[in-house]
Amino acid sequence: MRPGDPDAVEQLFNDAAPTYDRLNDLLSLGLHRQWKRQLIRHLDPRPGEVWLDLCCGTGDVALALSRRVRPGGQVVGVDAAEAPLAVARSRAGREPWLPVEFQQGDALDLDFETASVDGVVMAYGLRNLADPAAGLREIKRVLRPGGRAGLIDFNRLPSTSLAARFQRAYLRRVVVPVAEGLGLKDHYAYLEASLQRFPDGASQELLAKEAGFSRACHRAIAGGLMGLLTLRD
Ligand SMILES: C[S@@+](CC[C@H](N)C(=O)[O-])C[C@H]1O[C@@H](n2cnc3c(N)ncnc32)[C@H](O)[C@@H]1O
Repeated sequence: MRPGDPDAVEQLFNDAAPTYDRLNDLLSLGLHRQWKRQLIRHLDPRPGEVWLDLCCGTGDVALALSRRVRPGGQVVGVDAAEAPLAVARSRAGREPWLPVEFQQGDALDLDFETASVDGVVMAYGLRNLADPAAGLREIKRVLRPGGRAGLIDFNRLPSTSLAARFQRAYLRRVVVPVAEGLGLKDHYAYLEASLQRFPDGASQELLAKEAGFSRACHRAIAGGLMGLLTLRD
């Protein structure tokens, strides 16, 4: 599949939705939960604030945010694909007191007013967008002055580095074979292809500055395998 093709990406995540969470836990040994917690702690969402979780998938980050913005706050999870949103809504239904809702939408063309939200999170979404720079501009547009955003994704490493070789081996020898067992081989082979066209940390900082953010800081976590991009309006 062609990385960045919106229809193919939507189909991929619709197909993967039923096993997505289990596979994520398995492939990261549950560590993705810790990395996401680290991101949320850093962003420090507060009671009364309005936050967006873009490319929210099955909604784990949106739910975690919604526990932090109570009372008085609101979280909206947005995703292009309907199947992960159905999982997210069912999860939210188990904690109906949480101020969270889920909407189908395009992270590149959000149905939100300019300068209307306090914060934005995007976990493993930027790499999937047809135009990551446009995604950053759209985040900047919806953030109110002084707002903050945080993005987590795989880290694009220099291709000859030891960490990059480990990352490639992990994707080819662990991720793809495990996904193959669930009939999702091609879907997860896409991960390496999407990473090859993904800007590295320094380029992400540059794109964010070009989008108008006053502060942009990318740092590697998880032994260099993942990257956190934190932004200030
Ligand atoms: C790798 S999943 C990440 C899901 C979740 N945030 C997580 O960390 O588990 C990427 C998600 O981005 C969504 N996506 C891709 N392109 C999108 C777009 N243009 N607008 C909104 N969602 C998009 C996909 O449907 C998919 O659910």
